[in-house]
Amino acid sequence: MAADPTTLEELLVTERELWRDGPPRELFKRLRAQCPVHWTARITEYPEEAGFWSVTTADDVHEVSHDWATYSSELGGVTALTDAIMPLELARAMFIGMDPPKHDRLKMLFQRGFTPRRIAEHEDAIRAIAVGVLDGLADRETCDLVTDVAQPVVSRVIGSFMGIPPEDDEIWARLMNTTLGAGDPDLNPEGAQSVMERDVPEIFDRCRRLIAERRERPTDDLTSVLVHAEVDGQRLEEHEIVMGFFLLVAAGNDSTKATYCSGMRALMDHPDQRQLLLDDPSRIPSAVEESLRMFPAFAHFRRTATRDTELGEQAISEGEKVVMWYVSSNRDESRYDDPDRFDVTRNPEHQAFGAGGRHFCLGAALARLELRILFEETLARFPAMEPAGSSEYAESPFVNQLKTQPARLRP
Ligand code: HEM
Repeated sequence: MAADPTTLEELLVTERELWRDGPPRELFKRLRAQCPVHWTARITEYPEEAGFWSVTTADDVHEVSHDWATYSSELGGVTALTDAIMPLELARAMFIGMDPPKHDRLKMLFQRGFTPRRIAEHEDAIRAIAVGVLDGLADRETCDLVTDVAQPVVSRVIGSFMGIPPEDDEIWARLMNTTLGAGDPDLNPEGAQSVMERDVPEIFDRCRRLIAERRERPTDDLTSVLVHAEVDGQRLEEHEIVMGFFLLVAAGNDSTKATYCSGMRALMDHPDQRQLLLDDPSRIPSAVEESLRMFPAFAHFRRTATRDTELGEQAISEGEKVVMWYVSSNRDESRYDDPDRFDVTRNPEHQAFGAGGRHFCLGAALARLELRILFEETLARFPAMEPAGSSEYAESPFVNQLKTQPARLRP
């Protein structure tokens, strides 16, 4: 019943079978038209989890995002599942799971590592990383864009930012894939329990060792900045750095990879759009924004109502979960003409990095730079690349990403 509901009352938005081939776009279209703030009664796989409100239009997502006093990130966590994959305590220890004023103090300190100047300084280094990986494919006929291109590039970029040695990139990528994709049987064959028992302690242990090294011998990486950052005489405590490190490596590893692979797939599927970029590479930044709009790396983030309120015409009670579906709001027909059309000249505003407000993505400028460089360097080398098999999505209503995207490099 959940997979193909006849009525919207019966629809359970996060059921796994709906997400097997990516986000259920037709269902979200129905919701935007008929029931823009929709109640899902349960999450069958996790019977102990409460139901949730789905927010599906761009205006409503904007409203929730900007009103942190009514819609809290701290009260109940930031994903539709409160406790089932990542315990609430863990989410709340990261600033993505805090409300002001705690959130603002930490974010301000972390922002020191993400100033526009600091990001721009990395352009040459990021290009060298992308070129190194793509040149490594020179003798290959085919590759998997996920594992052969995106993963090594994003891991090394965030790794170099944080000060992780290159030989540890694969270990970190594995740890992040199992942690974020904990519900997907391919990404994490041993199940969600092993994440908490084995992977999370390993992540913390590795962070602590790196922090200790930077305390003794500062370098110019972000971990050093965090260890020594001071605002009004206050320093970050070790657990704050560890949790921030975890958040940054997780966000840096998964998200950019997801949008790159889906964007490249769209360019392969629409050679006319790709030709526009080959003819005029100055259109690539617009193609990056269009890829972010159509394929946001996170399908949703969540808030919890701090009081009885109303959204649209829908009453919401204190304590209820409110899920902002970016995969829906970014295709809202009231904002975008023909929203399912991939148009590299559109240069759209979108909500892939959140809809503004306190929790707007810290890494947006870095992600945009990485994506531009990756598109530029991939298109320059493999202008006629085509799919060499079918794509496969992570089975997740949270991470919106391909697990595999085989490509023929020079057809
Ligand atoms: C395509 C790439 C990316 C996408 C689509 C993306 C998307 C998002 C979204 C939707 C949020 C939550 C917004 C909200 O709740 O209102 C977020 C938060 C965040 N992102 Fe990103 N992100 C990307 C890349 C990155 C990168 C590369 C980093 C860091 C290296 C990063 C670090 C963060 C952090 C730290 C937060 C929490 C901000 C806060 O709570 O104040 N992101 N991101």
